[in-house]
Amino acid sequence: MFVVVGVTGGIAAYKTVQLVRLLVKDGHEVHVIPTDDALRFVGRPTWEAISRHPVTTSVHDDVAQVRHVALGQQADLVIVAPATANTIASMAAGLAGDLLGTTLLATTAPVVIAPAMHTEMWQHPATQANIDTLTTRGVRMVGPVSGELTGGDAGPGRMAEPEQIHEAALRELRERTGGDLRGSWLVTAGGTREPLDPVRFIGNRSSGRQGVEVARAAARRGADVTLLAANVSDAILASVAGDPRIRVVEVSTTDELERAATEHAAEADVVVMAAAVADYRLPDVADVKLRKEERGGTLTLELVETPDILAGLVASRRAGQTIVGFAAETPGDDATLVERAVAKRRRKGADLLAANEVGWGKGFDRDENHLVVIDASDAVVAEAEGSKRETADALVDAIARR
Ligand code: CTP
Repeated sequence: MFVVVGVTGGIAAYKTVQLVRLLVKDGHEVHVIPTDDALRFVGRPTWEAISRHPVTTSVHDDVAQVRHVALGQQADLVIVAPATANTIASMAAGLAGDLLGTTLLATTAPVVIAPAMHTEMWQHPATQANIDTLTTRGVRMVGPVSGELTGGDAGPGRMAEPEQIHEAALRELRERTGGDLRGSWLVTAGGTREPLDPVRFIGNRSSGRQGVEVARAAARRGADVTLLAANVSDAILASVAGDPRIRVVEVSTTDELERAATEHAAEADVVVMAAAVADYRLPDVADVKLRKEERGGTLTLELVETPDILAGLVASRRAGQTIVGFAAETPGDDATLVERAVAKRRRKGADLLAANEVGWGKGFDRDENHLVVIDASDAVVAEAEGSKRETADALVDAIARR
């Protein structure tokens, strides 16, 4: 594949040397386009040696070859790493002031960018608006991640590691060539609700975002997906509307989810139980609204356990089927998260278990997540931190590897 790597003026440019090396090692033809500012951090000889191609920054070099558009036209993929706040603003505005700008305007290839800047600049509404614009146009973001920044301060803004950018770039290429996954997947998302009466329910805070992203990641790679959505908002389901590879079935209670899951699992090659399932329900649901004046000062509810859907699917699994469970835990530290994930995977008998930490300000109804994936030998086979799209991609990778 023909890969163009744009490098802009941030200290993280030194890490992009490693990214170019990884791409060259894969066998891709890699052309680096540094901005003038980027060359103040890492010089031209380094880029030429590592990419094994001449490097130009100016639209006035190599004019006979119409280089200012040729690279963009030939590219199968364009990566910009690091992408500074200034470059992101130029991209959003469609500026073509240098060779990287003209290349980005001339290309129809997928574009992956790895932002890097100080936290304040990243969080500034101008930058966030530019990121929204680029995302809407289909530009793929990797990072930024939280961590130590050059000024000694810390926070979101640090460029993703070269290996992570490399992974995201490969994924983008795979998706472009029609995907590497076959077969049918069943993915559950959201949280079940158990009614108390016609107007009230016991529920949980799961929004369904992570499960929906898993469905999308599998579909992008070629799988046919049935998504069982338990109380997922229309806004979140909008991201799968019209996707020819994703069929949505809406459910609400644990009972409904169990029936739909059992039916669709019979056909599925892979089952991912990302839904947060209620563990208890009322044995009898009132037909009419519970009224305070009939109850006095306290209300005691007796709840009974719901069926464990995941364990049921494992017990009746068909040969060759891969079953993946989820766990939402509040452990406080990573070691405890892994420990609980290992125990839960064993208890449920799933092939893989994806654990994430939740809390008052964590996990649920957020765009960001931190996932650890455990396999049947109790090994951590994937770990990802970032947007739910990124963590979904990492999980689908781990399933595909299996
Ligand atoms: N699950 C399920 N049916 C249930 C409860 C959970 O299928 N009645 C599935 C979830 O979809 C998830 C996995 O089991 O994939 C783990 O869910 P979790 O609620 O973390 O596990 P529990 O067995 O309920 O254990 P805990 O005591 O930690 O709540």
